[in-house]
Amino acid sequence: MSKAIYPGTFDPITYGHIDVIKRAASMFDEVVVGVLNNYSKSPIFTPEERAEMIKEACADIPNVRVSTFSGLLVDFCRENGIPTIVRGIRSISDFEAECRTADINHTLDNNVDTVFLTARGELEQISSSTVREIAFFGGDLSFFVPPFVAEKTREKFKNSRS
Ligand code: COA
Repeated sequence: MSKAIYPGTFDPITYGHIDVIKRAASMFDEVVVGVLNNYSKSPIFTPEERAEMIKEACADIPNVRVSTFSGLLVDFCRENGIPTIVRGIRSISDFEAECRTADINHTLDNNVDTVFLTARGELEQISSSTVREIAFFGGDLSFFVPPFVAEKTREKFKNSRS
């Protein structure tokens, strides 16, 4: 059975992430979406909230599983028998950074390799921080995230703008 992980912070999940997950799910028997419990960022959503939103957004994709993890990605891969990491590429700068990370991960564990999926044109500009900023100022999120994610993100900022 072919297995891959799509790791990230997903604070929150966007249509850009969902596009990558759908495409990866058509290439592998199982795709694990790995939600990083990341202490170097300060996410607005807890890992559990982020994982719940991903489960809801991917409910119609049967071969997707959502899991939280902390520590090194390659350790999670080894513990769960996952040989392939999937990462999305939106720009040249993403590509440069992702090449470095793929190389580091392969150096840490040479049984793990990374494949890249390039973002579709209209999804190239999406990022979770853009979504958070638009939500903070009460803007329209319909192009970027599913309606239930928009609502939960706006809810987070409800009392912080005054
Ligand atoms: N659609 C929308 N947004 C996308 C995207 C896409 N296709 N691809 C990337 N992004 C955005 C995210 O929204 C996020 O935006 P933000 O910074 O504005 O919030 C940004 O790109 C980066 O997020 P993400 O892809 O989640 O990467 P990350 O840097 O948060 O985490 C990990 C990347 C999880 C793969 C990496 O940190 C990791 O493996 N950490 C574990 C520790 C480890 O193993 N380290 C050794 C390797 S260096």
